[in-house]
Amino acid sequence: MTLPRSLPPIPIIEPFRIRTVEPLTMTTREERSMLLIEAHWNLFGIHASRVLVDLLTDSGTGAMSTEQWAAIMRADESYAGGESFYRFERAVQDVTGMPEVIPTHQGRAAESILCRVLVKPGERVLGNTHFDTTRAHIEAAGAEAVDLPDPATEDTRTETPFKGNIDLVALERELKKGNAPLVIMTATNNALGGHAVAPENLQVVRELTTKYGALLFLDAARFAENAALVRRDSPRWGDKTPAEIARFMFDLCDGCLMSGKKDALVNMGGFLALREPELARQLRELGVLQEGFPTYGGLSGRDLEAMAQGLREVLQQDYLDYRLATVRYLADGLESVGFPVVRPAGGHAVFIDARASLPHIPPSQFPAHALACALYVEGGIRTVEIGTLMFGEAAHADLVRLALPRRVYTQSHIDYVIAIAARVAERKDRLRGLKIVQEPERLRHFSARLAPIDS
Ligand SMILES: Cc1ncc(COP(=O)(O)O)c(C=O)c1O
Repeated sequence: MTLPRSLPPIPIIEPFRIRTVEPLTMTTREERSMLLIEAHWNLFGIHASRVLVDLLTDSGTGAMSTEQWAAIMRADESYAGGESFYRFERAVQDVTGMPEVIPTHQGRAAESILCRVLVKPGERVLGNTHFDTTRAHIEAAGAEAVDLPDPATEDTRTETPFKGNIDLVALERELKKGNAPLVIMTATNNALGGHAVAPENLQVVRELTTKYGALLFLDAARFAENAALVRRDSPRWGDKTPAEIARFMFDLCDGCLMSGKKDALVNMGGFLALREPELARQLRELGVLQEGFPTYGGLSGRDLEAMAQGLREVLQQDYLDYRLATVRYLADGLESVGFPVVRPAGGHAVFIDARASLPHIPPSQFPAHALACALYVEGGIRTVEIGTLMFGEAAHADLVRLALPRRVYTQSHIDYVIAIAARVAERKDRLRGLKIVQEPERLRHFSARLAPIDS
């Protein structure tokens, strides 16, 4: 008689194998404690070589493929009219369906050019939630950046899909007031948890922007992850490919802004793409001043080649399945060891709710930063505080973001992160808050010096 045996579950498998390796340096707990003191309790001050698993950001930190490196070797570095530009232009046109393509050195350069051309002092730019550099460029143009997130985002614990949507009632109310020539929809909605925007939501945004005469641009930094979340979470889109879903969403927009450092799978690069030739002419004119000749836009030919190839690879279903599965696995793992996380898990990062995890540390003593420091000391994991240290008293929440670089870490790295988090969870009631001892005028989280508060 054969005994019933339970088979182990099939683990998440990376849809790639590794040919070039980058050694990681092991450090001891004591060394990390010293390094943190030397960095004045600011994780941005730690040398990357002293970090074991670096989850500070998913921006520009991904690994390139053999095909991307091969494309780099084929690059044409001509100043004007290089073949690499035309290959890049074709890739962007294929993905977005937009004929006018303007390369920029990264996403914020695209934002700067767009805002300087389209946005006038006293106007308002509406969006689901503007990313902080987008907001800064809108404000630099003398305008107001207005966030209209879906009310579903207020409860971070529900699994409601598409929390990246804009509040359509609020959008119509704001458009009716006038003086709002531009709506920017950010997909996924990075600032609030990497949640997806539903195509149906964008469709209504299109109708409203047409009705009230505003332009609609997509901040497409994570367009492929957005498409994958739509495919996974909406039965209506389950039989469409990520490329088809992404294209449906691009087709609704007048243009898009892209930070290639996310879903173009490169370490540097960005672009603007749009339909209207006259607007494109104006954007190019400013782009020449700011970025360079329109066929290189602040990038070398090899960067354009890598982006062209990355834009095609990022839409592969196997890659996107693995990507979403890893994010969800990490979210479930952190929750299983006692850390509540923002739900649903999005496409690029997991956010621990530090206010809920460490109720004994008030927001004024930076609970999320205290937790981020503890993860570093315990296991060399670097994360980032998104809360009171970053935004001051305006912060609605204190979160620790664990952003996953694309194609860099393996499943065992993720298991390691969960195991370290479990050890921190055991002593979380004993973690102490921090105080700022020195801070710059702006963007204090990058360089502030902190110290633990004596109990
Ligand atoms: C949604 C979004 N838009 C724009 C940007 C800015 O892009 P970049 O860092 O390439 O300037 C980012 C960067 O994190 C982002 O997440």
